[in-house]
Amino acid sequence: MPTKKYVIANWKMNLSLSQSVSLAKKFKDKFAVFNQGEIIICPSTLALTEAVKVLKGSKIKLGAQNVFWEENGPYMGETSASMLAEAGCDYVILGHSERRRYLLENYEMIHKKVKAVLKTEKLTPIVCIGENFEERKTNRRDFVLVEQLQQALSGIDVFGGQQVIIAYEPTWAIGTGTAIEPAEAEYAHKIIKLALNDMFGMQAVSKNFKIIYGASIGAGNVKGFAKLENLDGLLVGGASLKADEFYKIANEITK
Ligand code: 13P
Repeated sequence: MPTKKYVIANWKMNLSLSQSVSLAKKFKDKFAVFNQGEIIICPSTLALTEAVKVLKGSKIKLGAQNVFWEENGPYMGETSASMLAEAGCDYVILGHSERRRYLLENYEMIHKKVKAVLKTEKLTPIVCIGENFEERKTNRRDFVLVEQLQQALSGIDVFGGQQVIIAYEPTWAIGTGTAIEPAEAEYAHKIIKLALNDMFGMQAVSKNFKIIYGASIGAGNVKGFAKLENLDGLLVGGASLKADEFYKIANEITK
């Protein structure tokens, strides 16, 4: 039986507070009678509490773009998992390549974040992994994916039934307007699934893990991804800033 697909809007640091509220309202209207999948918007931290108010009465879920691994204390400028949950988030994106690159997030930090998020039992982590261009060029993609998964997830416990979403984002294709070939995404997703099976066992993987794709998805190229066997959804950046286009993407991928 096909499982529900996840369609996630990653607004990154693109919108002011008022723009975020206004786009959230457009999403609410657009998706008012949409029942085909799980729609999630991830605005800036600043906009989360206003977005919650807007989304009241809608099925759209809220996600954060970052979290800190400690519960509270002298950690300037950070937000904990329980704070995000209290604010109304159900999801949080972790390990995105932009944070690895600009904020120097490393394996250990991402691992601690995954653990902290699962510990709340209120948030689902969306863990981003993906190779860069150099790694792809030198045929190291598979190794990099397995390594990133192991670093992020080894020793974590999902047997309480917590969900984990793995987002495969080839970093060299992000923001370029050109997604990779769907067949290539399918291959990478199979590698991810095999690695997860090794770590957690097939049963837990089919129950607890989802694998989604992200990088330059738009209304123009989503069709090729819709029929992939090992694809549970999409993480959308630029195209998620337009409610109409995001709706088309969501509609196509969840058909
Ligand atoms: P784009 O869709 O803009 O390529 O961004 C992808 C991404 O980074 C989603 O997390």
